[in-house]
Amino acid sequence: MDTHFRPVALEHASRLINHGPTVLVTSAFGGRRNVMAAAWSMPVEFTPPRIAVVIDKATFTRELAMASGAFGVCIPGAALVDVVYAVGSESGRAVDKFAKHGIEAVPGSVLGVPLIESGCSAWLECRLIREPHAEDTYDTCFAEVVAAAADERIFASGHWSVRDDNLALHTLHHLGAGHFVRGSGVLRAKPL
Ligand SMILES: Cc1cc2nc3c(=O)[nH]c(=O)nc-3n(C[C@H](O)[C@H](O)[C@H](O)COP(=O)(O)O)c2cc1C
Repeated sequence: MDTHFRPVALEHASRLINHGPTVLVTSAFGGRRNVMAAAWSMPVEFTPPRIAVVIDKATFTRELAMASGAFGVCIPGAALVDVVYAVGSESGRAVDKFAKHGIEAVPGSVLGVPLIESGCSAWLECRLIREPHAEDTYDTCFAEVVAAAADERIFASGHWSVRDDNLALHTLHHLGAGHFVRGSGVLRAKPL
């Protein structure tokens, strides 16, 4: 399959979620796979790169991530807005959301988590950091990024390139209740 995805150096991985895009959290264990939307994620450590994602304890995603010790963070482009809202509005306990919505996944090369490239601008393959004292209390999950890649049409050489000709890959930012804004309209700060 032709892909525009290229590896992203781990020291640049935090830049993929630094601007707060809504992401798709992917997971798999014991022959089951799943995907959910998450608006709450952020980088938390530089080296090795570590991130935090809020994954509600009640979700199927949380169950699979805890069982496998891994999850993927995929950054959907604006063209996936309906899919993002759909997978964030239903549980994968009873349905394979990949099959239901025609979402293709490729296995991560390090941990084997399902990763979405089609319609996404980037992904991060993440190893869960075990926090036995906190797992029953907090929804926040910490993870180390062990691999990352991005579509070179919008992220290359460690930088986003948000342009009119790659609109479908611009990131989504959730305002609530199914309303999103696209991460477009770049402003460049001038020295004062
Ligand atoms: C745009 C959007 C953003 C969301 N952000 C989060 C989030 O940051 N953390 C979270 O736990 N749930 C979030 N949700 C809700 C989950 O995606 C939702 O509970 C989902 O059905 C869980 O699926 P699962 O049970 O198959 O894992 C969000 C939903 C939407 C639509």
